[in-house]
Parts: sequence; structure tokens; C-alpha cells
Amino acid sequence: MTTQQSMRGDVAVLVPAAGQGIRLGPGGPKALRLLRGEPLLVHAVRRVAAAPSVGCVVVAAPPDEVAMVCQLLGPGVLVVPGGATRQASVAAALAAAPAGYEIVLVHDAARALAPPVLVERVAAAVREGHPAVIPALPVVDTIKHIHPTGEVMTTLDRSVLRAVQTPQGFQRSVLEAAHAAAVDDHTDDAGLAEKIGVAVWTVPGEESALKITRPFDLAVAELLLDRP
Ligand code: CTP
Ligand code: MG
Repeated sequence: MTTQQSMRGDVAVLVPAAGQGIRLGPGGPKALRLLRGEPLLVHAVRRVAAAPSVGCVVVAAPPDEVAMVCQLLGPGVLVVPGGATRQASVAAALAAAPAGYEIVLVHDAARALAPPVLVERVAAAVREGHPAVIPALPVVDTIKHIHPTGEVMTTLDRSVLRAVQTPQGFQRSVLEAAHAAAVDDHTDDAGLAEKIGVAVWTVPGEESALKITRPFDLAVAELLLDRP
């Protein structure tokens, strides 16, 4: 996969891809699992690199697979060893992002079908001045707060809830400050930014940016590839 010629923009995209994919079941690191014959990571990076704003992609790969991932993605993509948690992987990729990129997006390899238009939407909102931007979709299920015993405690007001996706976009200094201040583990980078008091803005998400977590999701993603 060669992306070098196509990337000319002012945005760096960090792609954490070092997870084990436990919930997907046996078969190796999730980012390297195949979707229609190609690794999820290749699908994800191809779509990111197709967004006109993107000038640089940094992948945090499973530590044992760095050389293989370099080979897979070609010379236009930087590859670093990921860490023990998603947060550590993002921090490693951020440290390796070349100077000069003042807008940085973080995008999970597991959201392999997130379209270039979503990358552009998030980048545009950061460029307009928002320090942190996340794609969000309305929640379709009713969400309840459950006690560990299984008993329902409360029903949440669905109208104010959103399901959050990646790519998440940041002014670089904000993402660096959020990671530098991190004391506990967060499942997304906007959560770290919230912790240091940064206002996080939402833009509409995309259903095709679903997170591939369990085997069912892989089957859905396969079907989505057939859509026009
Ligand atoms: N990730 C990472 N480094 C880790 C853990 C996760 O870079 N130590 C990445 C994954 O590769 C994935 C993204 O973070 O692209 C979101 O994580 P998740 O969907 O939880 O993937 P996995 O951790 O691989 O899956 P599981 O939790 O089922 O093991
Ligand atoms: Mg995980």
C-alpha cells in the first residue's frame, strides 16, 4: 500500500493498532485480522490517507509486528511500537509525530471503515478553532444504570446521550497536555482532555465508523463493504 504521494495536508493522524483483539476471539492482533482479504489496519489507513487534510499517519503497531506493519503500509506511514494500553499506544504515536503538524487526530484501527469525509469533518472543526472535537451519534437503545447485582438503578435520559467514535481531533498542544496530565486509564482521548478542563465539541458521526469489537461486527463490516 503506497500512500506517500497522496498525503499533502496539515493534519497528522495517530492510529492506535496495538491491541490484542481479545473480544474478537482467537486469530492474532485485531488490527491485522483480515476483512475481505486485507488487514483492518490497511482498510483504516487507506481511508484516512484519502482525506485531503491528512499529511502524515503514525501507526502504533503490536510491538512484535513493527517490521511487518512497516512493510504492509509502505514508506509513507510511520510505525512505532505500541504500549500495554490504548492510551500508552496513543502517547507513543504522539511522541513520534513529526514537528509542524498542529492538528492531530486519533483514530482506532478497529474503526476500519470510517470514511474520509468523517476525517475531514473532524479536522475542519479543529481548524475552525475547537481545541478538541469528537464524532458522536444519537443512542438508539434505552440505557440503564445497573447495580453489580443486576438490579436496575436508574434509566438515563436518552435524548442527551451520544455514542462517541473516532477519529477524535485536537490542537496538538491540547492532546500533548492531556496525555502529560493523565493519571488513570481512559478509553478515549477526549476523556483525557475533559479531565484538564478542555471544552470538547461534537460533530455528527458516521454509522460506517462502527467499532469492530466482536465477531458480529466483523460480519457487519464485511456487508458494509458491498454497499455502493
Ligand atoms: N489499542 C492499542 N494498544 C493497546 C490496546 C488497544 O493501540 N494496548 C488499539 C486497538 O488496536 C484498537 C483501539 O486501540 O485499534 C481500540 O481498542 P479495542 O477496540 O479495545 O481493541 P483491542 O484492545 O485490540 O480489543 P480487545 O479489547 O477486545 O482486546
Ligand atoms: Mg481493548
